Amino acid sequence: MVILDGKKISNQIKDEIATEVTQMKERGEKVPHLAAVLVGNDGASLTYVGSKVRSCKRIGFESTLKHLPEDTTEEDLLSLVNDLNKDPEIDGYIVQLPLPKHIDEQKVLMAVHPDKDVDGFHPTNFGKMALDMETFISATPYGIMELLRRYEVDTEGKHAVIIGRSHIVGRPISILMSQKGKAANATVPLCHSRTKNIKELTLQADIVVSALGVPHFLKADMVKPGAVVIDVGITRVEDKSKEKGYYITGDVDFEKVKEKASYITPVPGGVGPMTIAMLLKNTLLARERHRGNA
Ligand code: GUN
Repeated sequence: MVILDGKKISNQIKDEIATEVTQMKERGEKVPHLAAVLVGNDGASLTYVGSKVRSCKRIGFESTLKHLPEDTTEEDLLSLVNDLNKDPEIDGYIVQLPLPKHIDEQKVLMAVHPDKDVDGFHPTNFGKMALDMETFISATPYGIMELLRRYEVDTEGKHAVIIGRSHIVGRPISILMSQKGKAANATVPLCHSRTKNIKELTLQADIVVSALGVPHFLKADMVKPGAVVIDVGITRVEDKSKEKGYYITGDVDFEKVKEKASYITPVPGGVGPMTIAMLLKNTLLARERHRGNA
């Protein structure tokens, strides 16, 4: 069994980007600038956005965090989005999800200019991705594809069963893995809460991607020997014995499933760090497009 080490691969990708940034600086060019918008104080979102900003610093990007209070109105958020769209200093930006309930998430994501939408959430970018056109691919599915590519996991003609149909992970990864190309060319059933026979399907799977957010959902008796297991779940489970008062766990019963899998991603240290690395890669692409180099 091989651990798909997202931490290691994401560090390699960050080093590659850092080298490009150094060369940009040597040429006297402006370095990529990523902005992140965070509304409210959701603990997990604070952690993710903090990681994104720290990673920018590490690789030499500029970063700006726009942290707004929980009671920010939709109108004020849309106004900030409009400002970021027009700001020539910002190459790309993200609006961290989830947004507070009183804000229409779709309306906000639609307002992000597609050329600055480094999350790849705008319908224009999602549509381009679905049509095999070059675009910003959402960081989590992009990270999964990159992890499979860098470990040269064979997906050609394989059954890749996806669990979860979210717009951010399940739906796009099902599209990407069924497309032509490396880490793709798979046959891809997409399971969700109304699927009647999930275990029957996962037992046929050469590759399982679980993106449900339900701790330990995928048990060893649901996995075929030799399967590739990708765990996208990152759930905080309350635990008073831990310093932070919680621990992080995935969708997969890791200790038991790893005994059957050929490749498996850990949580933490698997898909999570890859998401950040691919967001940075998208920001680099945004910068190059901005300059007319891509
Ligand atoms: N919330 C959970 N994952 C993501 C992500 O990839 N991007 C944004 N903007 N919000 C998220």
